[in-house]
Amino acid sequence: MSRPAPLPVLDASAPANLDRAAAILRTGGLVAVPTETVYGLAADATNARAVAAIYEAKGRPRFNPLIAHVDSQERALSLVELSDAALTLARAFWPGPLTLVGRRKAGSPVCDLSAAGLDTLAVRWPDAPAMTGLIARLDRPLVAPSANPSGAISPTEAAHVVDGLAGRIDLVLDGGPCALGLESTIIADTSEGLVILRPGALSRETIEAVAAKPIRSAGKDAAISAPGMLTSHYAPDAQLRLNATDAGADEVYLAFGPYRGIGAKAALDLSSTGDLAEAAANLFSLLRKADQMGDRIAAAPIPFTGLGEAINDRLARAAAPRSLEDTP
Ligand code: TXA
Ligand code: MG
Repeated sequence: MSRPAPLPVLDASAPANLDRAAAILRTGGLVAVPTETVYGLAADATNARAVAAIYEAKGRPRFNPLIAHVDSQERALSLVELSDAALTLARAFWPGPLTLVGRRKAGSPVCDLSAAGLDTLAVRWPDAPAMTGLIARLDRPLVAPSANPSGAISPTEAAHVVDGLAGRIDLVLDGGPCALGLESTIIADTSEGLVILRPGALSRETIEAVAAKPIRSAGKDAAISAPGMLTSHYAPDAQLRLNATDAGADEVYLAFGPYRGIGAKAALDLSSTGDLAEAAANLFSLLRKADQMGDRIAAAPIPFTGLGEAINDRLARAAAPRSLEDTP
């Protein structure tokens, strides 16, 4: 399919624009859609050619399973089996930044390519009216990975999507900056209980308070893991130094809390008050900005509590050495 250049960017809150986006999706096209976490690149989950076009547009060298987005618990349950423990989380946190991985139901309309051939499927009901409006219009689930070229920083504004994917997709719906700014927390519903596959915008503490017990994390070499959780990811072009309590004149400093990067080439504040939710919301857009400002970035230490777990995870991946093997 030939893609429009320049890439149209339309207001996500106008119903007529959702109608136009739905028409594109029905014919197998690709639309970037704002969600509360990051912008997703949506396609009809039941159309294998449309799903293949997602991999092509992102330049993913191999197939990595996608999240099927839904607009109700009922639609989620038409796609996957969920245990009572998983349903308790679904009831507490949907719509919201929680993705549940369950066994695919026989007869589910989601194409095999969406699940990359696995017998499990990731599902999420986002708190995002444009996305759920499109799902309702098509009356089908939409798969949506983050709307960035493979391995790059996830987009939290429409302009980030245009930077990365112009010429490769059909339309961007603009909903302004994403409220949370970090991807959803992914939890696998396994026979041995719930396992966190990817820390994300819903903190472990918040989840455990509802589950009323501790939840394991999948280790690096755990039998079950998110195939997309590669070491190098969210990668800026610049070199990134972590846990930096000072900064050199050749470094752009990503500050968190009182030390503001005196002596640095420039300083950007994740959160001047040390607020983790604010830092999460700013993380990807400031990483992008820092990347444009210099060749070296130094990031302040971030506590590992609450959303700090996910922020530290993304920073560690952004700082990891890159090898071909690691390219998602
Ligand atoms: O917040 C989000 O989750 C965003 C928005 C757009 O909803 N989406 C997102 O999708 O982050 P993506 O494709 O960038 O990341 C999905 C992750 C990948 O690491 C993938 O390997 C994992 O989910 N995943 C998907 N299906 C899986 C499955 N069946 N089992 C294990 N991991 C799975
Ligand atoms: Mg992604």
